Amino acid sequence: MQLSRVIPSEPSRRGSAPAGLVFWALGLLVFAGPFACKGESDQPQWDAADATRKTEFVDDEDLVRDLPFAKDLASLAAFAAEEEWDLDGNLVDLVTGESEARYGWESRALLDSDSFVGWRLESGRRTYERECAGCHALNGDGGGPAAQYLFPRPRNFRKREFKFQSAPVGGRPRREDLMRTVTKGLVGSAMPAFRLLPEEKRHDVVEYVRYLSIRGEFEQTLLEWTDLDGEFADPDEVQELVEDRWERSNNPVTVPLIAETDFDQDSIERGRLLFTNAAACNGCHGDTGLGDGPTADSFRDAWGYPIRPRDLTTGQFRAGIDPSDIYRVIANGIGGTPMPGALGNNTPEEIWDLVHFVQHLTGKEVSR
Ligand code: HEC
Ligand code: HEC
Repeated sequence: MQLSRVIPSEPSRRGSAPAGLVFWALGLLVFAGPFACKGESDQPQWDAADATRKTEFVDDEDLVRDLPFAKDLASLAAFAAEEEWDLDGNLVDLVTGESEARYGWESRALLDSDSFVGWRLESGRRTYERECAGCHALNGDGGGPAAQYLFPRPRNFRKREFKFQSAPVGGRPRREDLMRTVTKGLVGSAMPAFRLLPEEKRHDVVEYVRYLSIRGEFEQTLLEWTDLDGEFADPDEVQELVEDRWERSNNPVTVPLIAETDFDQDSIERGRLLFTNAAACNGCHGDTGLGDGPTADSFRDAWGYPIRPRDLTTGQFRAGIDPSDIYRVIANGIGGTPMPGALGNNTPEEIWDLVHFVQHLTGKEVSR
């Protein structure tokens, strides 16, 4: 099976950019152009490497890996072709295997004909190009034309790192996690809420984000192993590893692990004590949660950008404002950032106390 049968047409790199991107670019030129371009009125190049990322971190080996891949990938593809390796075949197995886990039971016959998976991904691709690529880039590396004006940057889906997920740290996000992000957006960042997009389309675009992420992880792991061993890595082994990681995220351990405990003054005080002592949240967030702890200025995120602990008094929580959202983020931490997960060192009851203290910091009165 050819990859082209899963994703009927790869987005074109330049020239015939989809209408959504043109819209984005025009918007940006009108809005940001006068401030940012300073006379450089070049058309944005859809998939071009983001120069600001390239120059700043080029000396740091770990961070270089965050750069857009086009160059390395081209040589990888050429090498694979020379050696007659069927990388597309591996990728197709990965993507269809993963989608089968979700859609297989719906229609075996359709799945066998490839058209069902292909159809969902194709629908997701169209939505993605229209709604997401302006920020996240066509290939998902987070370097879309708008990216350089945004802080935090749009997520690089190829870096196997997501911030908000219900699987334990180090796992891959589940479909529900991505769906939650797409539906609710990430408050306090440029990531919009897509509530108005029909639910089916949101499911499809989530499927496409998974495709871009799985593809990125496969290609990047292949590059890294090849780099480390000095010889071309075995695509079958890489496929197996990537498959295993994404499959494990389907395993049903979700947090919160226990129902919410009583939200009362005692719980808030226990939370305060943990926050400023045993759990040491104050080192980063400060004693009063303003995000001004002694280490607050010293961090970078996994994508190489400076990051500060959140001011917890604003009441803006990217992972959501439901108590269970706050629980999840405190228990699991935030992937790719210094924010650690508290679950290893604290009991679920203690984490609820922390949730209640954090809610208290936002000025919310005890509601029960
Ligand atoms: C205006 C720019 C913009 C657009 C358009 C946009 N995003 Fe985002 N997106 C962001 C930013 C910025 C972040 C990173 C926020 C952060 O790090 O807290 C992000 C993060 C994400 C994440 C990562 C969440 C995590 O747990 O790490 C996902 C998934 C995502 N976006 C999906 C989408 C999808 C799907 C679309 C289109 C339907 C889309 N985005 C459109 C800016 C955008
Ligand atoms: C090593 C520094 C560090 C420590 C320790 C730390 N945090 Fe954080 N925390 C951060 C950073 C950085 C962010 C912002 C991440 C981002 O913007 O993506 C954050 C964000 C948060 C958020 C916002 C989540 C959201 O949905 O937006 C909450 C709530 C939070 N931390 C609570 C805690 C609690 C409770 C503790 C102690 C158990 C703690 N943090 C310990 C660095 C830290």
